[in-house]
Amino acid sequence: MDNMTTVQPLNKTKTWVSLQKHYAETQNLHMRELFNADPKRFARFQTSAAGLHLDYSKNRITDDTLSYLVRLAKEQNLEAHIEAMFRGEIINRSENRAVLHTALRNFSSDSVLVDGEDVMPLIRDSLNKMEDFCWQIRRHQWRGYTNKPFTDVVSIGIGGSFLGPKLASSALKPYWDGQIKCHYLANIDGSHITEILSHLNPATTLFIVQSKSFGTQETLKNALACRSWFLRNGGKEDYLGKHFAAVTSNVAKAVEFGIKEENIFPMWDWVGGRYSLWSAIGLPLALTIGIDNFRDILYGAYQMDLHFRNAPLEQNMPVIMALLGIWYVNFHGVRSHAILPYDHYLRGLPAHIQQLDMESNGKSVMQDGTPCETDTGPIIWGGAGSNGQHAYHQLLHQGTHFSPCDFILPLSSHNPVDNFHALLASNCISQSQALMMGKTEAEALAELLQQGMAEADAKALAPHKAIPGNRPSNTLFMDRATPKTVGALIALYEHKVYAQGVLWGLNSFDQWGVELGKQLGNQVYSALLSDQESRQFDASTNGLINAFRAIKNKL
Ligand code: F6P
Repeated sequence: MDNMTTVQPLNKTKTWVSLQKHYAETQNLHMRELFNADPKRFARFQTSAAGLHLDYSKNRITDDTLSYLVRLAKEQNLEAHIEAMFRGEIINRSENRAVLHTALRNFSSDSVLVDGEDVMPLIRDSLNKMEDFCWQIRRHQWRGYTNKPFTDVVSIGIGGSFLGPKLASSALKPYWDGQIKCHYLANIDGSHITEILSHLNPATTLFIVQSKSFGTQETLKNALACRSWFLRNGGKEDYLGKHFAAVTSNVAKAVEFGIKEENIFPMWDWVGGRYSLWSAIGLPLALTIGIDNFRDILYGAYQMDLHFRNAPLEQNMPVIMALLGIWYVNFHGVRSHAILPYDHYLRGLPAHIQQLDMESNGKSVMQDGTPCETDTGPIIWGGAGSNGQHAYHQLLHQGTHFSPCDFILPLSSHNPVDNFHALLASNCISQSQALMMGKTEAEALAELLQQGMAEADAKALAPHKAIPGNRPSNTLFMDRATPKTVGALIALYEHKVYAQGVLWGLNSFDQWGVELGKQLGNQVYSALLSDQESRQFDASTNGLINAFRAIKNKL
């Protein structure tokens, strides 16, 4: 990495000091005042890209806030880092890798070099192989061992080999053409695999083992269990080649498992797991919605890539969302961020962004190995609206701390029923309004008196009904959730996460933090199966292991 793309600790930048001062001057400003003072606020704090529109006017910002934040981004060489990623520079330094999920959806004629070699032919070959595979399966050229067409595909994978395709699959349910039903098997839980396999016919089921490393314990165990289920229920070793495929960068291990080499789709080390939806990891999705719709997802993401790479920072949607997050985490001391899709099909979005954001920026060491001096990635949570209003919105409105929210709203529904969509949209819009406006105690009291409540009772109740407001949110809207806008939406968050990682000086593309749990898991697993009482760990771990062993021995 040349010095243009290294960053200093965020709190060592010149702009950090100006932002601290600016925060002190503006922290008590209420958004009500900001809207009252500027009738053009909504119009000014908007940006659009790739079919998405972002209303960020309901944030605790002024024009000065934004210009300071943009200055901070410039001081951290964000534009150079954006270019470095697209150009295939080694920005994942701890693993000495480029980061090129963007190349998977590169619709330009530009080459993309990794170690001097243009990888675009490899990517195009993989996409063509996907297209051919989908065509054969969906046109019943490739059938099961009883010569019946496939009806179901079981995608076996976890983390990025599960969350991305599962999200896109459910987000685009309206585009399933009914030919192939997709089931996502991830957890190492007998109930999960039983729930999935018990309804399936091995003769018409295709299994895809999705694992970049082909070494993830849950995935391998599930794949082995699916294979024995297949062999126990009519399948034969000779039929495995028809019913099993794999997506992995570890071809040798996939062949060793028994998957025919021609049924193995490539993954590359310059594509991170949580950024891999755009690779052949998207195969189950392409089988259910068709390769043309899958290509549209790629195209939507590509449109967002062009925007991220070329739009000035002041109008750059991922950058604005990233900078707003920095403002709340590093100056307002906020620790979480809520993703609230007001769309049944997008209900899986928070779970995908949880991995995308928290596995990328849940770190406390900078790229150069020095400890972070500022807070970094927030806790990502959320769920579909309007359900959340009857679950956690109480805290959002009256809790002692606030969580910035991203409301996501397709303006039209795939299933128009009566006035449901207007009701859903009214809930979405009014929630962001209530979070911003709040209700003063005086307003609450006046309302209660107006309703005829006795003054003493009204005075007692009013404090409970007061809502502070001034709680920030973004509203992301699109005409409709289509393959293109869903692709753009997922890419938007990928770029937001990367931009924040750059400002915090993090490597957003490794995940060393998950290694210890895996190592300890193997030791605990052996102790759980041992016939000896566990004494080798701490008292709690020993106690829990022995409790498990006691029940196991009793059953
Ligand atoms: O959680 C760690 C992790 O490596 C994720 O980054 C990844 O998406 C998941 O496990 C699955 O990894 P693989 O695709 O190699 O099975």
